[in-house]
Amino acid sequence: MFKKARIKLTVVYSGIIVAISIAFSLFIYRMVSVEIQQRLSLIERRLNPPQRIYLPPTTQNMMFIEDLREVEDRVLIILIYTNVVILIFSSLAGYFLAGLTLHPIENAMEEQKRFIADASHELKTPLTALQTSIEVALRDKKIDLKSALFTLKDSLNDVKSMTSLTNDLLSLTRYQQNNLKESFARVNLKDIVETSVNKIRPLGKSKGIQIEFNKDDVFLSGNKESLEKLITILLDNAVKYSQKKKMVNIKYNCKGKYIIIAVSDNGIGIPKEDLPYLFERFYRSDASRSKINTLGFGLGLSIAKSIVNIHNGSIGVESTVGKGSIFTVKLPAE
Ligand SMILES: Nc1ncnc2c1ncn2[C@@H]1O[C@H](COP(=O)(O)OP(=O)(O)O)[C@@H](O)[C@H]1O
Ligand SMILES: [Mg+2]
Repeated sequence: MFKKARIKLTVVYSGIIVAISIAFSLFIYRMVSVEIQQRLSLIERRLNPPQRIYLPPTTQNMMFIEDLREVEDRVLIILIYTNVVILIFSSLAGYFLAGLTLHPIENAMEEQKRFIADASHELKTPLTALQTSIEVALRDKKIDLKSALFTLKDSLNDVKSMTSLTNDLLSLTRYQQNNLKESFARVNLKDIVETSVNKIRPLGKSKGIQIEFNKDDVFLSGNKESLEKLITILLDNAVKYSQKKKMVNIKYNCKGKYIIIAVSDNGIGIPKEDLPYLFERFYRSDASRSKINTLGFGLGLSIAKSIVNIHNGSIGVESTVGKGSIFTVKLPAE
């Protein structure tokens, strides 16, 4: 599809250049012919002035006239050659430029295709599970109330999981569009951290995990709702990937032109080989899946990265398996 589009664009690009060049050449040729015609009539008038008697042109004069006529033909040939060279050159340049124009569009389309494929694949798994459990329950003609309720509860969990996946997918597309800049306002990081900690506290309590945080006023320009989402994602991971009764800590401060936010835990840690892929969509470390068996789709950190990008910041991670992880976010200060 893109090969065809590239050739079409090449034809359009080189067509425009050659059309301009032909128009320009026709103009030059016309000017040169008019000029030569004027010179020829002038010479002829000089050679045959009306008052004098007719003098036959000398061979030298004839040759001069011939030379002038030849100039006209030579200009035409040079112009034709020039246009052929321009056609070849503009086709090559057009092909290159068309490639340059189409490359980012091709990449974006590939990315979109992969996104749709990944999303459909992730949705298919809970949907199949849901379908199977409902079909099995329906096939059992003597199903008792307890089993029916169990199937319903199970189905509800699958539906909840799909809702959470679609919400995450929507968040990701929203934050990747990068059009939140208009809603930037002066926000206090203290409020953002407090709101996020309050959201994660119940999950922490259920595992006996305490969340420590500082309460300093630090102001920055940003989108409040998305920053709350960012901190919530990091805190949620810190709690989710920690064993019971561990500590989770969130610290923030302003260092020169930047605000540094660090979320640390003493949890299961992340293997070195997983670190480069952690912020990719749907990536989940095998270690975290098997050891702690937590629910999730691997979208949290890619959403976090999109939010950080919108705020012109950066996000990084340091981790040791069995000891814990520190996620550090660097955002430009106000
Ligand atoms: N604090 C953490 N400790 C250990 N592993 C983590 C931590 N944060 C993230 N991870 C790893 O990174 C993966 C991706 O995280 P995320 O994008 O939030 O997706 P999810 O939590 O849904 O799996 C997780 O599956 C886990 O393997
Ligand atoms: Mg997560």
